[in-house]
Amino acid sequence: MPDKVKDLSPNPGADLRLLPGLLDSHAQAGLIAAVRALVAEAPLYRPVMPRTGQPFSVRMTCAGDLGWVSDKEGGYRYQETHPVTGRPWPRLPDAILDIWRKVADFDGLPDCCLVNYYADSNAKMGLHQDRDEKDLSAPVVSISLGDTARFRIGTELRRGPTRSFKVSSGDVLVLEGAARLAFHGIDRIYPGTSTLLKDGGRINLTLRRAS
Ligand code: SIN
Ligand code: FE2
Repeated sequence: MPDKVKDLSPNPGADLRLLPGLLDSHAQAGLIAAVRALVAEAPLYRPVMPRTGQPFSVRMTCAGDLGWVSDKEGGYRYQETHPVTGRPWPRLPDAILDIWRKVADFDGLPDCCLVNYYADSNAKMGLHQDRDEKDLSAPVVSISLGDTARFRIGTELRRGPTRSFKVSSGDVLVLEGAARLAFHGIDRIYPGTSTLLKDGGRINLTLRRAS
């Protein structure tokens, strides 16, 4: 008989912290107002993938000192200006910073808030790692608003095991510890599951410390 084989496969989503319903409807409406103001200054645009130039199915914008961008030649990176308007990103709204203050176990504030807009059921996000940040000891805080989505998380291995669950409006996820570099993405959204956004869809706010 061979020795019992030790299961070395890491646990998908280990250390991920899910805070369901952290934000009540009043807080969610306040965040939407803040997002509308920042989108008026820094419009949503559709980034394209490095090399292939294939467009993302989500639209994006950012707030903070640095914004995360992707394009054909430059690849994934942070930069100080909006790629379409060329202007600096709007400042990171206090209502959003307050959520980081509440949930992040970290001495310091985020300098980037990525806004992802999933307009309809065609919008999704493939499995990826958030790894363009300088200091990977800071967590990533992810806020869900609007329609419910299926969030998938794995391990630090691209082809490792994954698990998935639904995230609803007002839920907050903290990616820290082993989850900080875990592959994650959005399989799909469920249209018509929230009335927060008048035209439907889902907004995700991802807070990161980029520099
Ligand atoms: C992301 O990983 O950038 C977005 C995840 C989400 O939309 O919840
Ligand atoms: Fe991500």
